[in-house]
Amino acid sequence: MPHHAPDLTPLLSPGRIGPVQLDNRVVMSAMDMNLSIDGVIEEEDVEHFVSRARGGTGMIITGCCSVGYPAGSTSTKEPGLSSDHFIPGLKALADGVHAGGSKLCVQMVHHGKVARIDTVSDRPLQVASVPEGAYDMSALADNTPTELGKMGAVTGGKKPTYHEVTHDDIAEITGQYVSAARRVREAGADAVEIHCAHGYLLSGFLTRADNRRTDRYGGSLENRARFACEVIAAVKEAVGDDLAVLVRVSGREFGEEGGLSTNEAVQAAQLFQAAGADAIDVTGWGRNPFRNFTDGPLPDRLGAFVDLAGAVKEAVRIPVVTVGRVLPEIGAAAIAAGKADFVAMGRQLLADPDLVNKLRAGTPERVRPCINCYVCVQENFWDDVPVCAVNPALGNEGAAPLTLAKAPVSKKVVVVGAGPSGLEVARIATQRGHRVTVVDKTDRLGGTLWFSALTTPANYPLLEWLRTETARLGVDIRLSTEATPALIAELAPDAVVIATGAVRERPAIPGGDLPHVHTGDTMRALMTGVGDTSGQAWYLRLAGRLGKLTGLTKTPARVAALTRRILPVGKDVVVIGGSLVGLELAEFLAERGRNVTLLHDEQQLGLPMALPRRWTAVRHAKEAGVTIHRHARAVRITEHAVEFDEAVTGKRGEVLDTKRSSAPASMVIMAAGVSPAAPLAQRFGEMVPEVHVVGDAGSVDYIQGAIHTAWKVASAL
Ligand SMILES: Cc1cc2nc3c(=O)[nH]c(=O)nc-3n(C[C@H](O)[C@H](O)[C@H](O)COP(=O)(O)O)c2cc1C
Ligand code: SF4
Repeated sequence: MPHHAPDLTPLLSPGRIGPVQLDNRVVMSAMDMNLSIDGVIEEEDVEHFVSRARGGTGMIITGCCSVGYPAGSTSTKEPGLSSDHFIPGLKALADGVHAGGSKLCVQMVHHGKVARIDTVSDRPLQVASVPEGAYDMSALADNTPTELGKMGAVTGGKKPTYHEVTHDDIAEITGQYVSAARRVREAGADAVEIHCAHGYLLSGFLTRADNRRTDRYGGSLENRARFACEVIAAVKEAVGDDLAVLVRVSGREFGEEGGLSTNEAVQAAQLFQAAGADAIDVTGWGRNPFRNFTDGPLPDRLGAFVDLAGAVKEAVRIPVVTVGRVLPEIGAAAIAAGKADFVAMGRQLLADPDLVNKLRAGTPERVRPCINCYVCVQENFWDDVPVCAVNPALGNEGAAPLTLAKAPVSKKVVVVGAGPSGLEVARIATQRGHRVTVVDKTDRLGGTLWFSALTTPANYPLLEWLRTETARLGVDIRLSTEATPALIAELAPDAVVIATGAVRERPAIPGGDLPHVHTGDTMRALMTGVGDTSGQAWYLRLAGRLGKLTGLTKTPARVAALTRRILPVGKDVVVIGGSLVGLELAEFLAERGRNVTLLHDEQQLGLPMALPRRWTAVRHAKEAGVTIHRHARAVRITEHAVEFDEAVTGKRGEVLDTKRSSAPASMVIMAAGVSPAAPLAQRFGEMVPEVHVVGDAGSVDYIQGAIHTAWKVASAL
């Protein structure tokens, strides 16, 4: 099939926001890094942003900076804007970003009802109206005590109290915004972004559900937008055209009644324009973070808010920014279609700081893709520095050059296993001047990554990227090739890297060896027709058919689509083990009309998934109709059922009793019992000078573990 490269010209053409001229239309969306100390921007923070500036990004927006620091702040690790002693840090950042060839916009925030530092300091949270009722927090059932402890520690375990801001408070906070903007100007930055979204103070005024006031700041939309408009006008008056003034607003709030509607957002944007805004940055927000976080602000849908931006753009003259999993081709198309003028990228720029340079060079395929795993943002729940599953240099920019530095001697390296860790080792080792051969006994690249893409399509671009990069670098990849001692002896490498993945066991219970009981390995064989299908029965014929089809196409997306029509799986399925793989498989099969029971021997499902994604995955599984049993242990498998013991728990989760139950099963999938194993390490240890183990073979930590261990090993080879 001929490959038509998307036209990215709209994205790469210059643009203007108020007084600021940008080289291109890609803006780095605000993301807090929690690297400041007591409100002061530190060197690591500067490096983080500067590397994105050097990467060609048109403008960098900082994470939230607090206008009243420490009052109204959510963390002591967020930059403060409330005193002149914060200016040198800001200036270092502005200078660095300018030297890197980009522009700097500082996001100005009062966190309102999420100002955790106010709670820590026994100050009431500043709000439009005291919240009525609490969120549905049932999702926390899938959090570990450690995670809950870390979240609680951020507020010192204290309960929030609230204060409805008075007119004097409004005047004072408006003044804080103005002083903050003046400091930003003094530091030499180019723009400010006034945060009027994500539930913070100004957005709490804007949203009907959070504002029940009867004064001139409550009631009609015009009244609810008044506080934000006063801030915009005062800031604009103070800084004139020295700074561009962007305003961030939700194009829609998701999840609960009374959230901001798109109609209201459009009207608000018009009022903001009239008040002096130079651009509107249209985000989206799920009102209950425990339920809707993956609707917004971090959507799991590609280009999720483009149409919301489009609605705003129709109603205003000033530039509009869109955000939310905007891939380059989606952003270019949105601009071409007149739905946005600029594209903000968040996570994609965490995953690859050099995105714009790679687009400019005509090599979009070289952009390391964000896989929407939410590992980065999880750290924000407890105020830690984001880490990126696919880019170990995030928050540690010095790690990236190590993956490019030429090794003192060029070694012959054999990598066993063409999964994510093996391919990543091969990529980096080759860059560093080693001669690398990868062998894999299966007929396809990707190992577990390939299979994970069946249920998690966002993983597939990472495999495509690893495939493209290893091909570009000329890595010698030998598929359908087993790493036998004879082969190792023949290749005579200086170093062997074992990247063979985890092992999956059959359940050691009566009936565990019945032919309708599958492990991850036999499931793979069923889906693809490749691998060990010995001992399987009637559905193997179907599997063979599916296997042939998938063998032809070889993309997980195609297989996932095919399995909506043909799936070699009976009607009643019991999945044993509700960790990452089990939970996703259960949802996958339930969506395909199977009656799925999920047995999980612990409380928390989906533990290896980062927080917001875990909550969403559990919700999706439930919505797809999966019957979930927690604290449930399979004790016997028969031809038609799985018998299990389920704990009867008390109010605080204590086990009171167990009860024996049974679930119908024409197929059983064993998704527990995954463990690391690297038997080849020992076997080859005697044959080669250096043996390393990476990825799940060493420790089952999925994609993040695969990529991070690969960097460590390959940078030191
Ligand atoms: C680690 C992290 C921190 C974030 N911090 C902020 C923030 O400080 N202010 C803000 O307005 N949005 C914040 N966001 C939201 C992003 O600006 C962006 O709107 C969102 O991630 C969706 O874009 P994306 O899909 O390109 O990541 C954060 C996102 C991430 C991943
Ligand atoms: S951690 Fe995951 S979601 Fe966050 S930027 Fe990296 S790949 Fe994307």
